[in-house]
Amino acid sequence: MYVKKLFIIILLTFTITSFAETKIVIKFSHVVSENSPKGKAVLYFKNLVEKKSDGRISVQIFPRGVLFDDITVVEALKNDIVQMAAPSFSKLSFYVKDFQLFDIPFLFKNIYSIHRAYSGNIGEILKRNSEGNGIKVLAFWDNGFKHITNNSKVIKLPNDMKGLKFRTMGSDILNYQFSLAGAKPYTKSFSNLKSLLEEGVIDGQENTFSNIYYQKMYEVQRYLTVSKHGYLGYAVITSMKFWNSIDKELQDIILEALEISTHYEYKLAIEDNERSFEMIKLEAKDLEIHYIDDKNRALWVKFYKRYHEKFTNVISQEILKELDNL
Ligand code: SIN
Repeated sequence: MYVKKLFIIILLTFTITSFAETKIVIKFSHVVSENSPKGKAVLYFKNLVEKKSDGRISVQIFPRGVLFDDITVVEALKNDIVQMAAPSFSKLSFYVKDFQLFDIPFLFKNIYSIHRAYSGNIGEILKRNSEGNGIKVLAFWDNGFKHITNNSKVIKLPNDMKGLKFRTMGSDILNYQFSLAGAKPYTKSFSNLKSLLEEGVIDGQENTFSNIYYQKMYEVQRYLTVSKHGYLGYAVITSMKFWNSIDKELQDIILEALEISTHYEYKLAIEDNERSFEMIKLEAKDLEIHYIDDKNRALWVKFYKRYHEKFTNVISQEILKELDNL
């Protein structure tokens, strides 16, 4: 009896130890709300990967920038403090300049041309260059097209932004986008954005409907211009160090779970932005919404086209020549 008990204890100890050895914990840090498309997709990925790996992979989610903002998270990732993140392309451009291709105003006509860029050579080049910087890009996710809010006046044309202070995510191209119109760009983290707008440290910002809605920016902004002038997307990343430290079998499980989560995220991002706009219109009683008509839209496009070279100078030729194939 004693021997049998001892055998069971040894067996259990061995099983628990070997389970503990193969168990991988992924800390996934992001800056938006749990309800946003990215927040929901991260949760979806967590549930899927934990199930597919039979519990060998566990994902801990840290939303709303509770651990790191999107700029510091990349260093945290490289130092293995967190293992996954999904920062915006603009923020990744501090490491790989070409990510800011997606920041060029009015470059992409619709989400389909952006998806073609993700799945074609542009996506491949971005992945390869990230690896050279110790970053493994596992997937590209959408948020959507951005619009402009501010507290000072109705923005009908680019020059209406003259003299105003706008928060940007920090890429050179986003900073040019505002400075070329005579505005002052300020790079600030997403977590501080609402309070900076409320305190009047900055006048305005650009973002998608879902980010404007979930951060309740409409509570501290007086004007919204439905400009659809630029795009906000994310790279789901890990570090090369972490990626190479796990078995091929677990890598495949992560990639498979991410592929399914990515389809879910794309659908969610479209639906959520539409719904968020409806909610903004419903809830934001003091917000004046300005729609740009076709005539003025052509003027916005013309204004930024004049500076096309200024934008493209930041991007490598290798990427630029792929644009014709989209
Ligand atoms: C995000 O959507 O992850 C943040 C966007 C921003 O920094 O404005």
